[in-house]
Amino acid sequence: MAKEYKGYIFDLDGVLVDTAKYHFKAWKRLADEMNIRFNEDDNERLKGVSRMASLDIILELGNKTLSEEEKVSLATRKNEWYVEFISKMDASEILPGALEFLKMLKENGYKCALGSASKNAGLILERTGLKNYFDTVVDGTHVSKAKPDPEVFTLGADNMGLSYTDCVVFEDSVAGLQAAKAAGMVAVGIGEASVLTDADMVVKDLSEFNLNML
Ligand code: G6P
Ligand code: MG
Repeated sequence: MAKEYKGYIFDLDGVLVDTAKYHFKAWKRLADEMNIRFNEDDNERLKGVSRMASLDIILELGNKTLSEEEKVSLATRKNEWYVEFISKMDASEILPGALEFLKMLKENGYKCALGSASKNAGLILERTGLKNYFDTVVDGTHVSKAKPDPEVFTLGADNMGLSYTDCVVFEDSVAGLQAAKAAGMVAVGIGEASVLTDADMVVKDLSEFNLNML
């Protein structure tokens, strides 16, 4: 390891837990009700994107324009279905290597932050038992600017009392990696290298990552 980084900031959905399938089921139910064609490929575009921006993408797919009030009511219904799914989650839905890596970081005195766009992050961390691994949790309830704006990650570093250049971010979304780079942090992509071109390095999941790779 050329440099020892002090802080490790994790996106939640797609990095620590596999919730994309639940987001998809809930959005799909809404899209079906509205006769909007929506498939797994379309769902890729929603990764890392806020709830209201996700709804805008779906409405655009269906060429529909709605009032702000109607949009809020649709997003609320989608979220109720989504919450039903995640309320039943447990530790078995933690992605490969994530728990082991978080344990190792804690045992070795590194600081960890969560940096997620989700307003449901608290519930997911509780259900999966991951909550205690984080020194600070920054989620969609704390930030006003969505990724690719770096706010969610800079706030995480500020809360840990660390400089941005001492932090490493783990992200599965293009917007999230751009946010990490905009913050001046090292960006590790989780997924496909052909998609995550803004990342400093890409691994399939956290089981493939170790600190010597930095
Ligand atoms: C994450 C997911 C997105 C989701 C967003 C907001 O970034 O990758 O797919 O839209 O969080 O989630 P929420 O739980 O607040 O609806
Ligand atoms: Mg994600």
